[in-house]
Amino acid sequence: MKILVVGGGGREHALCWKIAASPLCGKLYCAPGNAGIAQVAECVDIGIGDLDGMIALAKDKDIDFVVIGPEAPLVAGLADRLTEQGIDVFGPSRAAAMLEGSKGFLKDLCAKYDIPTAEYGRLADPKSAKSFVRESDLPVVIKADGLAAGKGVVIATTLAEAEAAIDAMMVEKAHGEAGTSLVIEEFLEGEEVSFFALVDGHNILPLASAQDHKQAGEGETGPNTGGMGAYSPAPVMTPKIQTRVMTEIIEPTVRAMAGEGQAFRGVLYAGLMITGDGPMLIEYNVRFGDPECQVLCLRLESDLLPALIATSAGTLDSLDLKWRDDSALSVVMAARGYPGAYEKGTRIRGLDKAAALDQVTVFHAGTKTGPGGEVLSAGGRVLNVTATGRTIGEAKTRAYAAVDLIDWPEGFCRRDIAWRALARHN
Ligand code: AMP
Ligand code: GLY
Repeated sequence: MKILVVGGGGREHALCWKIAASPLCGKLYCAPGNAGIAQVAECVDIGIGDLDGMIALAKDKDIDFVVIGPEAPLVAGLADRLTEQGIDVFGPSRAAAMLEGSKGFLKDLCAKYDIPTAEYGRLADPKSAKSFVRESDLPVVIKADGLAAGKGVVIATTLAEAEAAIDAMMVEKAHGEAGTSLVIEEFLEGEEVSFFALVDGHNILPLASAQDHKQAGEGETGPNTGGMGAYSPAPVMTPKIQTRVMTEIIEPTVRAMAGEGQAFRGVLYAGLMITGDGPMLIEYNVRFGDPECQVLCLRLESDLLPALIATSAGTLDSLDLKWRDDSALSVVMAARGYPGAYEKGTRIRGLDKAAALDQVTVFHAGTKTGPGGEVLSAGGRVLNVTATGRTIGEAKTRAYAAVDLIDWPEGFCRRDIAWRALARHN
């Protein structure tokens, strides 16, 4: 088969790495890709926002199957457009991607179908939003309705902070049109965990749990990022909790979406809070997490490609996946300054030495190849140094040993990935 992966981050490197290893894969393209992806796929320089370019590429290369990594092209309708062209695709339709594309849509769906989530209001103007927060308990959570690259959520501990967040989103348009309407919701207390499942419209194949670290600084301090590291499985996700997540959250969602005529096909990424009363849904994403995908791919023993195809074809009921008993952990190396301003084009050395370590895989998240074949940084999150081990602790030791072999003075990473799992273990 000829396969095209859309995206150019660490998630897409992990997907390309798994797909390239599949006996079903004849030729693999990735657009736009990066320097690491170029080792396993032919990269084509088309941006993820260029839907026309992606369609033209898929037709030009006679692609059999497209795997869409990031949310933006899904919400923009890339899957629908490929389907119209008769090209099979992994990733939900634009209508089903509303689960991530509109927080208000998700909350209304949860309310209609009794899916456990925080109490909320949908507000369309600053005056009513401010009067809503005055009636709410603190802290209160203010969310831009639309896509905001993970930056559209403010947890306000005072009324002044809440009002400032409302002004920033609705009046100053900090997230553009995404902040035209807001969801304002109750603050949930507990431990956060992510859970992933493949969904073919009706059948559900549970994958695995993971936990990521969203903040830039150790001990969950500093600004929010796209994710500074992840590990899988997450010990908080006991078999009992997983059963509840499936029956109380994932299954009702899949039935609801099918019933609403927006059947979901793709990977459902549930952001959950495990509260004293059980699991509650914080949000859905309609794609793999980044860097959660990287740890899932290392733990997955089976070929991933048949599962992605079955998701698209509606035949997940006939599929089973084998997982390694190992844990996996990924450390994000980012450019100094990220998620604020940072330098691009800095030289990275030592990648081969790091990747040569036992049970270590270095995925590239934001790199490009320089004129002399050298690897240069090309983004905020640059590398995902990923390792497996019998325990999370063992995976962590391996991953940081690899980090220490990478010579990149302009980069930084958190040193405490998986602290929750390790604290629980101790
Ligand atoms: P989201 O973009 O919806 O994932 O929100 C970003 C982060 O904000 C989540 O990962 C949580 O850490 C936090 N968050 C969102 N909603 C809530 C809530 N209702 N209660 C507590 N924390 C929340
Ligand atoms: N790591 C968080 C995300 O992919 O949304």
